[in-house]
Amino acid sequence: MDKLVIRGANPLLGTIRVSGAKNAALPAMAAALLTEEPVILENIPQVRDIETTRRLLAEMGAEVELGYGRAHHRTTICCRNLASPEASYELVKTMRASTLVLGPLVARWGRARVSLPGGCAIGARPIDLHIKGLEQLGAQITQEHGYVEARAERLRGAEIVFDKITVTGTEDLLMAATLADGETLLQNCAREPEVADLADLLNKMGARIEGAGTVTIRVQGVEKLHGAKHRIIPDRIEAGTFIIAGALTGGDLNIAGCEPQHLGALLQKLEEAGIKTAHNAESVRVMGDGPLRAADMMTEEYPGFPTDMQPQYMALATQAEGTSILTENIFDNRFMHAQELVRMGANIKVEGCRATVRGRTPLSAAAVLASDLRASASLVLAALVADGETIIDRVYHLDRGYEHLEEKLRGVGAQIRRIGEMLPKRVLAPVVRT
Ligand code: EPZ
Repeated sequence: MDKLVIRGANPLLGTIRVSGAKNAALPAMAAALLTEEPVILENIPQVRDIETTRRLLAEMGAEVELGYGRAHHRTTICCRNLASPEASYELVKTMRASTLVLGPLVARWGRARVSLPGGCAIGARPIDLHIKGLEQLGAQITQEHGYVEARAERLRGAEIVFDKITVTGTEDLLMAATLADGETLLQNCAREPEVADLADLLNKMGARIEGAGTVTIRVQGVEKLHGAKHRIIPDRIEAGTFIIAGALTGGDLNIAGCEPQHLGALLQKLEEAGIKTAHNAESVRVMGDGPLRAADMMTEEYPGFPTDMQPQYMALATQAEGTSILTENIFDNRFMHAQELVRMGANIKVEGCRATVRGRTPLSAAAVLASDLRASASLVLAALVADGETIIDRVYHLDRGYEHLEEKLRGVGAQIRRIGEMLPKRVLAPVVRT
């Protein structure tokens, strides 16, 4: 298994570019199931979860073409014929976002068989709200042998109020409602930028959606959707990770190709922590030259502080003067990285959904273990300021959501390399014609 070796204490200097958003690309690829015409997606990040989604669609019988050379961030998907509207356990167990195919499959094909996602390192992540919503849209749902089976002649519009704000739940039902008979009103929706980006694509495909990005979304169902071309928004979590890298290492970093308006809560919190940033329409500059101050933080749904930035913020809090209290409100087991940071010399106490971080504690290099995607990012950040050479194991977690991370960080002065079975330059498989 690959490991990353990082020698700390280099300020990061220069410009680092952000890739397309994994969490916008995944639902966009699922949306291609809603039409028989080609959907062309640009700014697709080359990360493992995209490869898993390509395999998922190809297994169903879709044609998935991944661009090459200059077009290597483009993907063309055509779901004219599907052999079987099924998402196997083999794939769903590696990426729970595979459940995003449930709504589009039953909406267009009248049938879907999708494996239930198993356990997850960051906490309980059921899909009961996806299922409840599909039932309200008229689908007959059965569950057996670890699979959900959904059937419907044609879905029909309904009024759905989510019991809890769910990002992929909103996306799944939004896609299903586009082909339903009549109007659907979705309330208490997730307002994440990735939801609005999906609605943007669906409207380009001929859907009639209003209100995406707010708590209330209205969808007028249509008979058919057509193909479209769409550029995926930048990855705000990757951008946030780089901003913290610049602040932590005392560097001067320009994070280019991002959407600063998607980073409001993070930039505000960093200002509280004494970090100076400046931004224009598509980049953020961070100048990490002042002392870091402790600042409490709690994760919330968008536009609040993103849970996907909590582990990275914890790494920062270990280097801030004073005590920071971090409260995780979205997932019930998202502090796995804390003990690994303690191994590097941090002073962190976890009690339930709260972590108390006492800083500033110098970090020393150690062998540490990544447990999930964002936890591994926080270990990379801590290693960038630790004394000595840190070895991070199980970095396959990182490859799921960060494109060429070590190359990008090396480009701004980090001492970082990958050891173990060298991954081929491109993690993506060649074009598959089915
Ligand atoms: C999305 O996951 C993201 N993944 C996650 O990013 C992110 O952490 C999460 O939203 C929250 O922002 C993708 O977009 C692919 P939720 P999702 O449904 O949709 C509960 C990363 O690092 N819930 O909004 O699965 C659930 O248990 C990943 O890139 C139900 O109870 O999250 C959680 O406590 C990690 N029943 C809360 O809602 C349901 O049917 C929010 O989960 C659905 C969710």
